[in-house]
Amino acid sequence: MAWKKIAEKGTIQSGKSKEFEIGGKKIAIFNQDGYHALDSVCVHQDGSIAPEGKIEGDIVECPLHFWHYNIKTGELLDYLKGVKLQKYEIDIKDDGIYIDI
Ligand code: FES
Repeated sequence: MAWKKIAEKGTIQSGKSKEFEIGGKKIAIFNQDGYHALDSVCVHQDGSIAPEGKIEGDIVECPLHFWHYNIKTGELLDYLKGVKLQKYEIDIKDDGIYIDI
């Protein structure tokens, strides 16, 4: 794992998310009660949980078939037990948003 800059600071409005591609991976960054970074690809049928996923509190809803994930842990909340999206450490520095990937 190594820290990589993923975006400029201020790129993601409060209460919103964005999807980035880095190192061949799609990563969702959420700016909701702090910043959170997860794999962006839904385990159901590869929908992107950002930026169209609806955010309510700690939960994001996949826009394709409405499966739900905890944005702080990556945990899937429907249907399958013990399934998680990969979570990444995130750091907001003066010059941008970094994740450990
Ligand atoms: S692809 Fe996400 S719920 Fe189906």
